[in-house]
Amino acid sequence: MSKPNLKVAIGSLKLQNPVMVASGTFGYGREYADYVDPARLGAIVTKTITKNRREGNRPPRICETTGGMLNAIGLQNEGLEDFIQEKLPACRDAGTKLIVSVGGETSNEYGEVIEALNAYPEVAAYELNISCPNIEYKDKIISQDEELTHKVVRDVRQKTDRTLIVKLSPNVSDITRIARAVQDGGADAVSLVNTFLGMAVDVETRRPVLGNITGGLSGPAIKPMALRMVWQVYNKISLPIVGMGGIMNARDAVEFLIAGATAVAVGTANFVDPRTPLEVVEGIASYLSQHHYKDVKELIGSLNVS
Ligand SMILES: Cc1cc2nc3c(=O)[nH]c(=O)nc-3n(C[C@H](O)[C@H](O)[C@H](O)COP(=O)(O)O)c2cc1C
Repeated sequence: MSKPNLKVAIGSLKLQNPVMVASGTFGYGREYADYVDPARLGAIVTKTITKNRREGNRPPRICETTGGMLNAIGLQNEGLEDFIQEKLPACRDAGTKLIVSVGGETSNEYGEVIEALNAYPEVAAYELNISCPNIEYKDKIISQDEELTHKVVRDVRQKTDRTLIVKLSPNVSDITRIARAVQDGGADAVSLVNTFLGMAVDVETRRPVLGNITGGLSGPAIKPMALRMVWQVYNKISLPIVGMGGIMNARDAVEFLIAGATAVAVGTANFVDPRTPLEVVEGIASYLSQHHYKDVKELIGSLNVS
């Protein structure tokens, strides 16, 4: 039997397979090169970059929890200039599509970073990380506000013709409303989901485990909630979805595709075993062959609820 077709498209971005690595869990693509050939992945999403260098939150920034981990990195990064000078040249050789995750402390900052990156053709697409506090709006999280989300997406859309993916926070009561605002703002796709707000307590010291007190929960613990959000959004808007949250193996990824994701991203699993994204690519292909599908697109949104 011939190999199933794994190609998918997110806006104008054509991927050889639907498996990406999630922002912040794979550095800038080169860090894991000894374990994984990035050229076999659908795409790499970089750690979020911001215009200016950011120190990040005070340590400890990471802790393990049951079925997952908490992180409060606080968007630590060296800033746009360093990214262009130091990181981008190495990304060029990765042999796969590069999606740059862009964050911002103000609405304009997103556009400024994207305008600067438009000069580099190796940047295939942008993922807007709008789960950042916005200092113009009293540190309101953009993706928790429909109007603000719509404004930021609409403004950024004016700045680029490249594929624009907007990543949403799950820390809202109705994610479909935010997803609708993203669609109305003119984006090409949504990424679902960023981490769930959580915390951990050290009972010996009665202190929070994380220096930031709260942090974002990721890993298998969040998979059912992430999957539910993908399915809800798939039923409400027409944009392609990049699904993520606790994908540890190919079967997890297939669940996301069936629920409506066009592509998936592997995050926390990279810390357990950086070969996971490749195993997911191969496992999706095996699943399709075993179930007599010729094309991964037949699976997308095929959830049978009758
Ligand atoms: C250590 C760590 C750092 C992360 N950094 C970012 C980041 O810089 N930008 C972003 O959009 N998401 C970031 N995320 C969120 C992931 O990209 C992903 O949305 C989330 O972890 C859910 O997927 P997972 O359960 O497979 O990890 C980070 C997650 C972790 C665990």
